[in-house]
Parts: sequence; C-alpha cells; structure tokens
Amino acid sequence: MNAQPKPISAEEEDLLFRLLRQLDLTPDASQRALAGALGISLGRVNAQLRAAAEAGLIEITERTGTDRRQRFAYGLTARGAAQKTRLIDKFLARKFTEFTALHAELTGSAQYPIPPQFRSFPMQNPHAPITELYVSADSAQKLKVEAASLPSWDLTPRQICDLELLMNGGFNPLKGFLGKDDYDSVVETMRLADGSLWPMPITLDISQDFADTVEPGQDIALRDQEGVILAILSISDKYVPNKAREAEMVFGADDLAHPAVNYLHHVAGPVYLGGAITGIQQPIHYDFRARRDTPNELRAYFRKLGWRKVVAFQTRNPLHRAHQELTFRAARESQANLLIHPVVGMTKPGDVDHFTRVRCYEAVLDKYPAATTTMSLLNLAMRMAGPREAVWHGLIRKNHGVTHFIVGRDHAGPGKNSAGEDFYGPYDAQDLFREHEEEMGITMVDFKHMVWVQERAQYEPMDEIKDKDEVTILNISGTELRRRLSEGLEIPEWFSFPEVVAELRKTRPPRAKQGFTVFLTGLSGSGKSTVANALMVKLMEMGGRPVTLLDGDVVRKHLSSELGFSKEHRDINIRRIGYVASEITKNGGIAICAPIAPYTATRRAVREMIEAYGAFVEIHVATSLEECERRDRKGLYKLAREGKIKEFTGISDPYEAPTNAELVLDTEGTEVDYCAQQVLLKLESMGLVAA
Ligand code: PPS
Repeated sequence: MNAQPKPISAEEEDLLFRLLRQLDLTPDASQRALAGALGISLGRVNAQLRAAAEAGLIEITERTGTDRRQRFAYGLTARGAAQKTRLIDKFLARKFTEFTALHAELTGSAQYPIPPQFRSFPMQNPHAPITELYVSADSAQKLKVEAASLPSWDLTPRQICDLELLMNGGFNPLKGFLGKDDYDSVVETMRLADGSLWPMPITLDISQDFADTVEPGQDIALRDQEGVILAILSISDKYVPNKAREAEMVFGADDLAHPAVNYLHHVAGPVYLGGAITGIQQPIHYDFRARRDTPNELRAYFRKLGWRKVVAFQTRNPLHRAHQELTFRAARESQANLLIHPVVGMTKPGDVDHFTRVRCYEAVLDKYPAATTTMSLLNLAMRMAGPREAVWHGLIRKNHGVTHFIVGRDHAGPGKNSAGEDFYGPYDAQDLFREHEEEMGITMVDFKHMVWVQERAQYEPMDEIKDKDEVTILNISGTELRRRLSEGLEIPEWFSFPEVVAELRKTRPPRAKQGFTVFLTGLSGSGKSTVANALMVKLMEMGGRPVTLLDGDVVRKHLSSELGFSKEHRDINIRRIGYVASEITKNGGIAICAPIAPYTATRRAVREMIEAYGAFVEIHVATSLEECERRDRKGLYKLAREGKIKEFTGISDPYEAPTNAELVLDTEGTEVDYCAQQVLLKLESMGLVAA
C-alpha cells in the first residue's frame, strides 16, 4: 500500500499542487508542455513527476503508437486526487489567515466572523460554484480501474445518502468522513476541530470483520448496493466511538425510542473510518431525475433566473393547504423566491414514502404563482436530531445557494421518548438556529403555526388571531389525518387539495383493505403455531386478502434451513421472516408470523420494516416457561435440561419479553379458539378487518 506523503516546504507544496491540478486537467500532456504550463525546467518536471509517482500520487502509464515526446500519460491516483483537495483547503486557509492578520492590523480587531463586506467573492455570493469532491471525468475513468483492486466496503443506504452530499458539496466544508479529532469535536462542541460550525457527525461505520482488514494509510473503494464504485476513501483514522456519549450529546439522550439512537446502537457498525473522499461518480437514481439537483446545479439555476434571495422549505411530509399558505407567506415576507426542498433520502420510519410525496408536491406546485417557486429533491438521510438537525439543515441549504430557511415548531422532532415526553422543546430548534444564524450566513424565517379560521374562510397564523374567542379555529393534526385516511373518512377541502388527498388515498387505502402482519412471539411450546393456524383459518374464512403463515418450524425447514440458534443466526432468521412479511404486507396480503423471536432489537427492526407498508401487530404469547416445560410437546425442554440441545430459549438462551406488544395472550387454561378470537377482536379494533 502507498505510504503517506512526506512533509514538504510551502514552496514545494505549491508546486505539487500546481502539478496535480495540471495533470488532472491534461493527463496526456508531454513533459515539455507540463514544464511550460508550470513555468519550470524540463529536468525539474521530470524530478517532480518521479517524486509524485513514488508517493503514490500519480500513476505513469506507457502509451503505444504515439509521438515519442508523449510516450507517457500521467493520471492522478485516488491519493493524488485527495491530496489535491487537501492542498486547495490549505491554500485557502493560509489566505484567510493572512487576510485575518491584515484585517486585525488595519482595524485593531481580530473579531470573527469576517464582516460580510470583507468576505471574498465566493464567500459573499451564495450562487458562486461550491467545491465538489469529484475528479474530472478522465481521472474518474482511470480511478475506477485502479479502485477495482482495492479492498471495498458496500455502503448502507444511509451512507450512500451521506456520500452523495459529501461529494456534491452539500456537506461543505467536509472533505470526507470524520476522523477521530473532528468526530470528538463535533460530538462535544458542534464544531470541527478547526472551529467551523458542523453539528452532525458524518461517519463511516463498518463491521468489526472489515475493520480487522484495513488500516490508516490505505485506500478503499466505496460501492453502492449493486457494487458500483462511487468513491475512494483514503483512510486517515480508524476508531471505536463512544456511542452512548454520541447519543447523549447529539440526540440529547441515550434513549432507544429515538430512531437515530436506535440506529446508532442496533444498525451502525462498531468501528468508524475517517478520511478524505475522492468522488468518482454520483449515486444512481432512476426516480424523479429531473427533480434532483446538486448544490451547484441549484446555484446555477438561481443565478440564471436572477433569484438573489431564496427561502427554502424543508419537509418530510406531504404538503397541505396550511403548508402552502405558510411557505407563500414566508417568501412574501422575506421578499424571496421559494424553494420547496423535500427530503427523499431517509426520513422517520413510518413516514409516507417519497414516491407518493413527490407526486403530491408536484400537484401543489401548480398552486403557487408561476415563476416564483421551484422544487428540488434532497437525498438527505435525516437523523431527527431537532435543534442540531435544524442547524445542519441550514448549513446544507446554504450550500445549495439558499439565503433564507424556514424553521418550524419542533423542527425534525423524533416524537416521544421512552418516558412518553417530547425529546426537545417545541422551539429549541429555532433558539439554536438563531444563536448561530449570523455565523451560518443564512437567515431563519420562523414557521408560523397556520390554522383555518372558518368565518373568514382563510388560513391565519395562530399567534396573530386577535379574536380567538369569537371565531372557529380548525386544524387537523398528522395523527388525525392518518386516522381519517385509514378509516376512509372525509378529508375536508379546507385542509388539503383534492389531488393530494387522491394520491394519499391511492397509497394508503382504508386499513380494512391494506396488507398487515400479525407477529406472534413467545417461548417454544407457548402455543404460537396453534393460535397462528386457527387465526389463519378464520381470516381465510372471512376472505378478501391472501393469508400466508410463516411458522417458526416451517420457516426453518425452508427459508432458513442452513441456520442454527446462535444470536447471529436467530437474527438472520427473524430478519428474513420480516423481509418476506414486509413484501406480503406491501402487496396487500396478510402475513402471520410465529417465530420465537427472542430479541427486542430484532423485533423492533422487523416492525420498522413492515410499518413502512402497513400495520405490524405484535402479539406476545405469554405462556410461562414452567407451563411450556410442563407441556414439552416436542420433548425439547428435557433434552435442553440434559444439555443435549445447546442455546435453548428460556433454558440456556435468553427470551426478552416484549414491553410494547399490541396484545398479550395467556394460553394457560384458555381454549385456542378463544385466543384466536381475541386476536381477531384486536384486528377489528385497529380497523384491519371489517367489523
Ligand atoms: S428463533 O429464535 O425465532 O429464530 O427461533 P425459531 O425459528 O422460532 O425456532 C423454531 C423451532 O426450533 C426448535 N428449536 C429451538 N428453539 C429454541 N432454541 C433452540 N436452541 C432450539 N432448537 C430447536 C423449536 O421447536 C422451535 O419451534 P417452536 O414452535 O417455537 O417450539
């Protein structure tokens, strides 16, 4: 593997930067042409090229059948491309330090941030191009070949979102995944180690197995889920994070009820890699291509249309009339054009899928005055970190050329914590944003809570209504909207647009027509399979939807025939069941699962998988261990007690009883038929089967 470049003088560094830049622009240039472009002798060019090749920054390939003077082509390696980006940063940092020193000398004040009138053109102009981490198309071609033989990491969906925004400048000033110093500093102070404001740790989490095979100083290829190489990471740091601390500091509590904390502990790998990214290509999107823009594409668009002030609206929900009214007002009040900037990467589990949402947004776009408003989709993986998230969203929008940003009540709120209370105060996000507004260089427009005033037949900001006691104020919460959709109830015209409601009804038919999953969990011999079978027959008798039974024993004969009962294998088994059940649910069927599923975290992961498409009804078949052992229908408990079956649930392996199951069944002294009846009643009360 290539060695780290040796330290060199500022002058040599400057020459190296110019050489790398020139080679990136003209990889086929002759040495003579290079000497001309750099203004140095041929001998010096030769020496520089050799040194750069030895440091692994460039790759020299022989060309056949060309002019003798152009026998070699000099391409940048991933390390070379990353080094070039680092040198640009160093150069700019040096210039800013010189500027600050000069400013201090002239004004007698070393106060930060640099006042707007002294900022350089790119800092001042929100529409000037922003730095990306991509190499030129030629270099990308070569790097792809080089990267094919590097160790590679298959990115998770969240990492692909992060990588895309790193590469296209959406996460500027980050140049890669955070190393240890930056990570610690971001977690503790919301700033990178150099002091720049950055509230969210952008980290590359990996498995222990992969961590054991790589070291700092190495380059690795980063691939998408189909194996396409998107980027090269030059590893500078490999470290084990303190996840509890990260949760406390970034999300406000180490509480698994927070979706990002749950992700941190149960999905993210145990080791983080940090280092510079060399971008090869954008992640591929087949959907809504015309609506996806990089920061530079949006900047160019605003430049072209002469939109000097742009206010952005961030959302992960469909837009209804109140949103339209508030965004319209925000634009009018700040005398800015409007950018609807919805997140289509990862949002909160259970949200309306982005395909449906984008169709809804397109319908609403027609309701704005023509030529004042545009919409662009942002492939961001949200963390639901409330106040920190609001600041992060602001910085990302700033990078997209936006000047104003709407921050609402409970911005990016994750819902309730495990004690049933809100994670953040309703205006914490606005307070934190306001604190950093000037430094960020983006103006906050606080979200007005808009309500419908029936007598005046219009939306008005709640805090501006003087005659609250004399008028009728109407509002429909998100929960109420979901209820009305799932029960097929009327959604009034004052609340939403007919096109939006029609889209939502297509995706969310009334619950009695949706697919769902019944997930029975309990000890071996608890009666799961018996209840599941009786339930299946009853549901088939009712008709209307196909019913599939995924019984523990049967699954292990077919789907999971190669698996044993270690924790790892049980997890794989349950996730497979969850995957199949989620497909059944998505396609409008009923899945009945009856595995032991002893671990809370895995059951939760399956719940999240399924709730994206329909209801997940967890039923704890709570027959006691003593009763299961007394019944011992398969003779397994006896063998487990004798040590002849290892890792037996309840005997030599744990069973973590559910604490939030939709229903708890006690089968002791109860008829199977009665148990199945209780499940049916539960399904009926949830609106999943017709009464
Ligand atoms: S798990 O933990 O959910 O993956 O288990 P599951 O797939 O539901 O287990 C299916 C049946 O495997 C039998 N069996 C065991 N159960 C628990 N622990 C051990 N070590 C074991 N070895 C075999 C047992 O009969 C399970 O079926 P049920 O219907 O639950 O009795």
